[in-house]
Order: sequence, then C-alpha cells, then structure tokens
Amino acid sequence: MKPSDFAPLDNDDAPENPKQAAQDFLESMRRRRTVRRFSDRPVDQEVIERIIATAGTAPSGANKQPWRFVAVRDPDIKREIRTAAEAEERLFYGGRASEDWRNDLRAMGTNHEKPFLETAPWLIAVFKVMKDDEPGRASDQVYYVNESVGIAVGLLLAAARVAGLVTLTHTPSPMKFLGRILARPEQERPFILIPIGHPADDCTVPAITRKSLDRIMVIDRGSSLRPRGSTDPLPSPNPPD
Ligand SMILES: Cc1cc2nc3c(=O)[nH]c(=O)nc-3n(C[C@H](O)[C@H](O)[C@H](O)COP(=O)(O)O)c2cc1C
Repeated sequence: MKPSDFAPLDNDDAPENPKQAAQDFLESMRRRRTVRRFSDRPVDQEVIERIIATAGTAPSGANKQPWRFVAVRDPDIKREIRTAAEAEERLFYGGRASEDWRNDLRAMGTNHEKPFLETAPWLIAVFKVMKDDEPGRASDQVYYVNESVGIAVGLLLAAARVAGLVTLTHTPSPMKFLGRILARPEQERPFILIPIGHPADDCTVPAITRKSLDRIMVIDRGSSLRPRGSTDPLPSPNPPD
C-alpha cells in the first residue's frame, strides 16, 4: 500500500479545563453498570447507528478495523439467539465452567436463563474479522484483533452510556451459534453479544465495588499509590446513585 497523505490533526475541541472534563467523563462512566433486566421500550435505529459508528472510531492494528457489528432487532432472530444461548449456558452452569468460575459468578446472581435476549430492543453481535475483507485491501492480514475489537467495544459501551442506554456485555460460552444464526461469513468470529436498550423499571444491579485508584494505578516504579502532587481527595469508587 502506498504511504498515506498527511493532514493536520483536528484537535480544536480540546477542553480548557482538562481536569474538569476528565472528571465529568469519569462521573458518567462510573454510572455505567451491566444491566440484566431490560425494558422492551424501543430505541431508534439512528441511535444504534451512532453508537456503532462511535465504536468504529477505535484505533486498530495497522488501521485494519477488524470488527463487524450486527444489530439485531427482529423478534424471531432474537428468540433463536436466546434459545441457542440458553442451551450453551445450561451446560456452562451445569458443570462446563470450572468451580472457581461458577463461584466467582455467584455474586452476579446469573444463571442459564437469558430473557434479556428477547426483551432488549436491540442485540449488537460483535464479530472479529480474522481476514481483512475490505475491497481494495493490500493484504488479508489483520493484527492485534482482540485488542482492537476490545477497545471498540469499550467505546461502544461508553457511547451507549452517554446516550442514556444500558448494556450487557454478554459472552455465552461458546458462541459459535451466532455466526450460524446471523449468516456471517467464515472470516467473522463472534466476540461479544451486547443487549442494549433501557433498563426495566424494577431493574437492580449487584452491589459490587470497583477497585480504587490506588489499587489500579502505579507511577513510575513505585508501589501502587495515589499520584504524587495531587491534592484533591480521590473520588469515591462507588458514588451513591
Ligand atoms: C468480557 C466480558 C464478558 C462478560 N460476560 C458476561 C456474561 O456472559 N453474562 C453476564 O451476565 N455478564 C457478563 N459480563 C459482565 C460482568 O459480569 C460485569 O461487567 C462485572 O460484573 C462488573 O459489573 P459492571 O459492568 O456493572 O461494572 C461480562 C463482562 C465482560 C467485560
């Protein structure tokens, strides 16, 4: 492939107060929770399109953009997906998952039943593209596919949150059935299935905690500690809603 032309970076919207901007985004992301009880309230296709377009802005190895997002709204297809997912999950919870795994999942209160796969107005099935299929490609190779698609999914979840929608990052195991039901070509492998919509009126979420900053951040070679020079109190990891 010939080298790209270069254009000036468009960064004109950089905030005047980056600390406040970062704080505002943090506050919004803190409220993102995995939801397992959905309302059937519809969501406009245009909202879903913008959320998927946001995912498509993610960086990717050699700009291969090795992702495909299948937005499912047809009730018959959703029912098929639910039936297939529940069959796999029945085996998973029935013993295919390790004991440690099942113990770790106990806090989530999950089981093999997946009604949200029919209730949520949309399911976004995310596929990783294992062979570049873009017209005009220089090669079929793709690079850092899991990293690239993982980052894209992160942006998708954030975009949904910003739009006031809730999501579930669902990984029925294994999920080969998604390629079959959705008639995807051989080079696409299922990555994650994301029900997206509004929460049910009586929606509750597990009262779990997030690790505090001093548990996840290290500066230079030090032990994990709050950043030196910061005088603000660390925000609480789990603000009351
Ligand atoms: C890669 C990945 C796979 C997940 N798979 C499932 C799943 O199959 N079923 C489910 O109910 N939750 C699943 N989750 C959701 C996690 O349980 C959830 O993110 C975690 O408990 C933290 O809760 P929070 O998202 O509300 O912060 C998954 C999350 C990730 C990132």
